[in-house]
Amino acid sequence: MKLLATAPFLLLNALPISARALNFFDTQSPIRVESLPVNGENPLEYCADPSAHLLQIEKVDLHPNPPLPGQTLSIKANGTLLDTVEEGAIVLLEVKYGLITLLKQQVDLCEQVKNVDIECPLEKGDLTLSKDVDLPKEIPPGKYSVLADVYTNDQRQITCLRATNIEFRRF
Ligand SMILES: *[C@@H]1O[C@H](CO)[C@@H](O)[C@H](O)[C@H]1NC(C)=O
Repeated sequence: MKLLATAPFLLLNALPISARALNFFDTQSPIRVESLPVNGENPLEYCADPSAHLLQIEKVDLHPNPPLPGQTLSIKANGTLLDTVEEGAIVLLEVKYGLITLLKQQVDLCEQVKNVDIECPLEKGDLTLSKDVDLPKEIPPGKYSVLADVYTNDQRQITCLRATNIEFRRF
């Protein structure tokens, strides 16, 4: 679907931070909360109980999973949006390389979804997304973590996804 495909897309698209996003990584306690994996072939999990989210993700499939540098990443996803999402929605995005924060930024959701051929407003109802992304060869090998926390313009949580320690290897 639309939004959720944006998360992995943003991840790989090196965008620039947000105060809120920080907390997810920095406040992780040693007592691991039960992980909430996103359904499908993907490395994603929810940051918080998804039942309260505006976006109910049914499935996200990435091929290959995990993504490989220099190869085309195919993203297929769908789900249901419980309400229309208007202009002004934001993504709090954070990307880490090992322990180093590569980027931490608030980005405009509606601007970003244009990359996956979708325009705001995102209408309430079922969503499907299918997108191929060519990944650069030059992604430095190592472990990456990504967090995307998504809100409407009136602060309702659309979704919150993360992928921790995704390994890019040299071939
Ligand atoms: C998502 O796709 C599956 C098939 O891949 C389909 O069975 C399901 O109904 C779809 N869900 C939505 C909400 O579109």
